Amino acid sequence: MSAFRAIKGTRDILPAETGAWQRVEAAARGLFGRFGYREIRTPIFEETQLFARGIGADTDIVSKEMYTFDDRDGSSLTLRPEATAGIVRAVVENNLTSADPALRVYAIGPMFRRERPQKGRYRQFHQVDVEAFGVASPSIDVEIVEMALAFLEACGLRDHELVLNSVGDGACRPAYVDVLRAGLLSHLAKLGPDSRRRVETNPLRVFDSKAPEEQELIASLPRISDHLCPECRDHFGEVRRQLDLMGIRYRLDHRLVRGLDYYTKTTFEVTSAALGAQNSVLGGGRYDGLVRDLGGPDVTGIGFALGMERLTMILPLPAGDGRCDVFLVPLAAGGRDKALLLQRDLRRAGLTVLMDHEGRGLKSQMKRADKLAARYVALLGEEELARGVWTVRDMAASTQEAVEDPRLVVYLKEKLNG
Ligand code: HAM
Repeated sequence: MSAFRAIKGTRDILPAETGAWQRVEAAARGLFGRFGYREIRTPIFEETQLFARGIGADTDIVSKEMYTFDDRDGSSLTLRPEATAGIVRAVVENNLTSADPALRVYAIGPMFRRERPQKGRYRQFHQVDVEAFGVASPSIDVEIVEMALAFLEACGLRDHELVLNSVGDGACRPAYVDVLRAGLLSHLAKLGPDSRRRVETNPLRVFDSKAPEEQELIASLPRISDHLCPECRDHFGEVRRQLDLMGIRYRLDHRLVRGLDYYTKTTFEVTSAALGAQNSVLGGGRYDGLVRDLGGPDVTGIGFALGMERLTMILPLPAGDGRCDVFLVPLAAGGRDKALLLQRDLRRAGLTVLMDHEGRGLKSQMKRADKLAARYVALLGEEELARGVWTVRDMAASTQEAVEDPRLVVYLKEKLNG
């Protein structure tokens, strides 16, 4: 039988990479906490209908990318393709916005979409997701964008671009979609099969098309920015004014319609040229009707999600192989017990300590210490054992000294912290 392999579109995050992942997660927790966000953890699977209604039955995600299965009792379940719908379900179910009318939450975890795998696109991927409920004012849009950019900055990402749009709301978008559909219907011959289907189901999605032969037509289509109702126009104007006030630069793109149907008013993405074709590091926007549509109170919402695979791929972070403060080399017969006790005491004192467990010879143990990039090696040979000392070697300085057993913990702690 051939060896098992990870499922297509999934990947292992190996020990050499997890350091970078942990740093990104720590940056998120630290920064989001300072903006008043608290963590929420929701289940990986939900009722299929939650996503169909929340994200929209005509979106690519719902119509062809979900991992859906029948449970043993016949109910239809789906692995979450994104975090927002599940978080909204949890907010409604637990009535969270009545206790905190300006609820701010974040979540970190895996999502599942059956897309065609390629660089930066996986079938299991991870998002850092942020949601703010109950604030209708444009200043929360700006705060969310500011926090997203501060997060990327804290992670060390350079050379990225903020792209901004408004997709209108229930008052102006339906009329715009009619205008758009009419524009598309009069040029059907210039559209490929995918776009042609979208004219009927979801004309906004035509803006996602990358087909070269459709670009000229797409450029001539009516723009949502010319069809916003006064409220959406004012909201967007105020978002832009406040972004300017904060010195946050952005590019307007009327084609930024996003792949989920719940958006209203502000939408945004941050892209990075370093990513190639899948260039969106994070994306989000406002979704003012979603909580109500999913059975909750009429409260507004806005948020974004960042793709962890994409971010860690382009970060200039060191690999982070872990550190080893001290490597213990017990060579003397009967030295192992002393080493076990010393190892315990050094770890209790907060140091990272490893030792040989196989009774190997000096040469092979020193090789291992080198490989671990140990900063100190403590040797216990027959002579040291008889004298009640350890020989402590400073690996960088290539110096060594004998340190009495009872002083070792304090000695090494001072050396490493001083
Ligand atoms: P989204 O644009 O579908 O939005 O995904 C957000 C981010 O997740 C993308 O920018 C990308 O970095 C990452 N991503 C998406 N699909 C994949 C994939 N197949 N492989 C790797 N990374 C991927 C949402 O999911 C919304 N729920 C965001 C949101 C939150 N809007 C409001 N609140």
